[in-house]
Amino acid sequence: MQRYRIALVGGDHIGPEVVAEGRRVLAAFEREGVCRFEWQEYPWGAGHYLRTGAAMDADAIDRLRGCDAIYFGAHGDPARVPEHVTGQGMLHRFRKELGLFVNLRPARLLPGVASPLREPGDIDLQIVRENTEGEYSGMGGRLHVGTPLELGMQAIVVTRAGAERTIRFAFELARTRRRQLTCVTKGSALGQVMGVWVDVFAELAAEYPDVQSERVNVDAMAMYLLARPAAYDVIVASNLMGDILSDLTAGIVGGIGLAASANLDPTRRNPSLFEPIHGSAPDIAGQGIANPIAAIRAAALMLDWLGEREASQRIDAAIAEVLAEGTVRTRDLGGTAATTKMTDAVLDKLGTVDS
Ligand code: NAI
Ligand code: MG
Repeated sequence: MQRYRIALVGGDHIGPEVVAEGRRVLAAFEREGVCRFEWQEYPWGAGHYLRTGAAMDADAIDRLRGCDAIYFGAHGDPARVPEHVTGQGMLHRFRKELGLFVNLRPARLLPGVASPLREPGDIDLQIVRENTEGEYSGMGGRLHVGTPLELGMQAIVVTRAGAERTIRFAFELARTRRRQLTCVTKGSALGQVMGVWVDVFAELAAEYPDVQSERVNVDAMAMYLLARPAAYDVIVASNLMGDILSDLTAGIVGGIGLAASANLDPTRRNPSLFEPIHGSAPDIAGQGIANPIAAIRAAALMLDWLGEREASQRIDAAIAEVLAEGTVRTRDLGGTAATTKMTDAVLDKLGTVDS
């Protein structure tokens, strides 16, 4: 039986709560004898920073390299720790130092899930977000901190190689789907960096004549995604733009409690990282009411990447059934079910209970 070494980084607030639920679902496949998981838990995040002065151990990245995949919850304790400590200091380091250059964020409106849009149509799209540079390069600093001369500066970086590997991934993905790719840009204001992005896009478009491709400015894109989201198939965007647009697309297909993402190293030299797209939601932490579906879907994306396609599809199907029935719903979906009850419902559809 295939064994997978999974690094578990629950993070802060609801992070550990929701990945525990994903683990319960993965355990079902162990009981069935489909595969086995060896968990390596790391208590990193804001809590670790408060205890030790660092968001994670000094050798964290090396330790992660030894695993098959990383299952991540969410970071952030903004009331006690500056957000960049766990964002740039941990999650962004995973993405950059492990070369997880694609952040893939599927958005699909399932039966039984209410969209805030009046006529949402058949939404089924994937956002491919560049994940290691762009607006989140992290290059820069602060000068004269706390004085009237204070200055904050951060560089937007687009490299040809960085744009190419991400946009190529998006073209390849479009080929497996409806063969439509939309490139998000903002050439009028970010002409220098977006110039590189758009040139690379045009070159690759010529290599993929079978994929229908177009360029759209990010501000217009925000409007089109509300006006006619069903028209889109694959969307490729820079780091910040993809981050924002994917919260928007999560919002129109049922909310952030349902949305998962895969941080991929498509070369497979490093372990990829799977996470819900939501943050640590301090406002609902510790109450047992967070929606675990986003984290469970992230576990399904992880199984798919590991090659356990059937198990992954079974989780997606179980989630779709639970949402279509609509009897068990967490608060964000308009119900009253506890986190664990939502997972119970998914396990029930998978035909298994965990004692
Ligand atoms: P957030 O995603 O944590 O919360 C936004 C809203 O969505 C809140 O009202 C929250 O209650 C709700 N929500 C989030 N996940 C939910 C779930 N599973 N079920 C039900 N409702 C859910 O974003 P926010 O408030 O901007 O950030 C909180 C902290 O999380 C900050 O420290 C931020 O830096 C961090 N963060 C971390 C991310 C990550 O780990 N990838 C991503 C985004 C934010
Ligand atoms: Mg985000």
